[in-house]
Amino acid sequence: MPEPAAIALADVTKRFDGDKPALDGISLAVQPGEFLVIVGISGSGKTTLLQLINRLSEPTAGQVRIGGVNALALDPVTLRRRIGYVFQEVGLFPHMTVAENIAITPRLLGWDEQRQTARVDELLCLVRLDPGYRARFPHQLSGGERQRVGVARALAAGPDVVLMDEPFAALDPLTRDGLAQDYRRLHDALRLTTVMITHDVLEALGVADRIAVLQAGRIIAEGTPSALMLHQHADVRELMLTPRKIADRVGALLAGKER
Ligand SMILES: Nc1ncnc2c1ncn2[C@@H]1O[C@H](COP(=O)(O)OP(=O)(O)OP(=O)(O)O)[C@@H](O)[C@H]1O
Ligand SMILES: [Mg+2]
Repeated sequence: MPEPAAIALADVTKRFDGDKPALDGISLAVQPGEFLVIVGISGSGKTTLLQLINRLSEPTAGQVRIGGVNALALDPVTLRRRIGYVFQEVGLFPHMTVAENIAITPRLLGWDEQRQTARVDELLCLVRLDPGYRARFPHQLSGGERQRVGVARALAAGPDVVLMDEPFAALDPLTRDGLAQDYRRLHDALRLTTVMITHDVLEALGVADRIAVLQAGRIIAEGTPSALMLHQHADVRELMLTPRKIADRVGALLAGKER
């Protein structure tokens, strides 16, 4: 029998109070080991989609399956262990140290102190932060360092799926690209399945195996980065044109042409 999809959404709709649903009939499968990036403008439903996957919220209609099992049938603790989540705008607890923040899920799972400490050290090393950072508080870190802690925390219990909600959006482009590439290496080395959200097409092109474009609660296009570059949908073309314009400009500058 073929391996079930790591994540599968079947005709998922999420309606809050208004009459326009936040998500409108989404069907999507993410294969084990795949790196899927979801791109969409503010309000298109990206965070809502991620929250449905790890059951921070439940669909109004349709079904979410994790490894072939209905997410509603999995107990929340198992789900937290199997799915790491990097929150939009970090979400580290300000009154907790780096080590305490990273160890939140292991502590919930009842790991003893020694195992938690060893795991925190291992994770700091993995995300390339000095072990001396374990006693610092979030306000004593740079934005990029905070994001590394956010990634370490998501990986703490050894999940096989990681969901990332615009994890590097608030950073300068160089730091953002460095962190995204570092994370892509972790994804490969740890054989993770990743769904990352961004509004930045360039970032998506840099890390994705596959990209899905979300617009007003619907997926209007999906495919490999190269396939999306050639997509016919006018809004997708417009979206993909931005990085092409930048690339053309850089090409012209490299050829010695000034503005
Ligand atoms: N808890 C909620 N109650 C009511 N409406 C909500 C709730 N959460 C989200 N929405 C609505 O659902 C829509 C999608 O919101 P969502 O947060 O998923 O967008 P997003 O794509 O993540 O945007 P951003 O890029 O700004 O983070 C918005 O219209 C939002 O107002
Ligand atoms: Mg969001």
